[in-house]
Amino acid sequence: MNILIYETYEKMSQAAAAIIAAQVLAKPDSILGLATGSTPFGTYTGLVKLYKEGILDFKRVKTFNLDEYVGIDKSDDQSYHFFMMENLFSKININARNINIPNGLANDLEKECAAYEKKIDAAGGIDLQLLGIGNNGHIGFNEPDVHFPAATHIVELSESTIEANARFFPDSGKVPRSAITMGTGAIMKSRRILLLASGGQKADVVKELVYGEVRPQLPASILRFHNDVTIIIDSEAGAGLHGKVI
Ligand code: PGA
Repeated sequence: MNILIYETYEKMSQAAAAIIAAQVLAKPDSILGLATGSTPFGTYTGLVKLYKEGILDFKRVKTFNLDEYVGIDKSDDQSYHFFMMENLFSKININARNINIPNGLANDLEKECAAYEKKIDAAGGIDLQLLGIGNNGHIGFNEPDVHFPAATHIVELSESTIEANARFFPDSGKVPRSAITMGTGAIMKSRRILLLASGGQKADVVKELVYGEVRPQLPASILRFHNDVTIIIDSEAGAGLHGKVI
C-alpha cells in the first residue's frame, strides 16, 4: 500500500485529483470507478478545475459509480446520481452515454445488479477505482459481514451507516434502508485503487485498515490483498499511522 498523508483536506484532494488526471492523460479512454460521500468532493472540484483549464479531456472516459440508494429517483437531491451530476458530470465534457450508476428504481433489482457487473466486465474492467471508507470500514456499501460479498448486490444498510448518512437528510427516518453496491469482487478486480479518508472520525478505521487483520468485519481490509492501492488521507485521518505528513 502506498500511503500519502497530507496536512490538509485541500492538499489531499489536489493529490487525488492529480492521480486521476494522470490516469486520464495516460489513457484517454480510461474506465473510472467513482465514489460519492463528502470525502471525494474536493477531488471532483480539482478535476473540474483541470478540465476548465483545458488540461483534461473526458470525452472518451467511461465511469461506473460504486453504489446508489434503492427507492430514490435520480432527480432526488439525495440520490448519488444527483450528487455526481451536480459535482462532476455536469461540469466536464463526459459523454452521458459513458456514465454508469446503478439504478435503485429498477423493477428487478437482482437483474440490475447482475447487468451492472456484466457491463463493467464488457467495458474491459475498471482502470482506477476511487473509494471512500465508512466509519465502520465499509467500501461502497459493502457493510461489515461474516464474508466479503463478492458480487454487485442489494444491501441492507447498517445502523452506523444510516446514522452517518443522516447528516444529508432532514432526519434519519428519511435515510433509505437499502442500496445497490458494487461488490468487493468488482472493486478488487480494478487495476488500481485510490482510497481517500479525511477527518479525525476516520483515524481509528484507517489505523485498522493499515495495521489490523484482514477480515470481513472490516470490508476495506480486503484491499491489503490488492497490489496497487494508494491511500490518500489528511493528517487527522492519519493520526494513528506512523507515516510522515507531506
Ligand atoms: P464520507 O463517506 O466520504 O461521507 O465520509 C465515505 C463512505 O461512507 O464510504
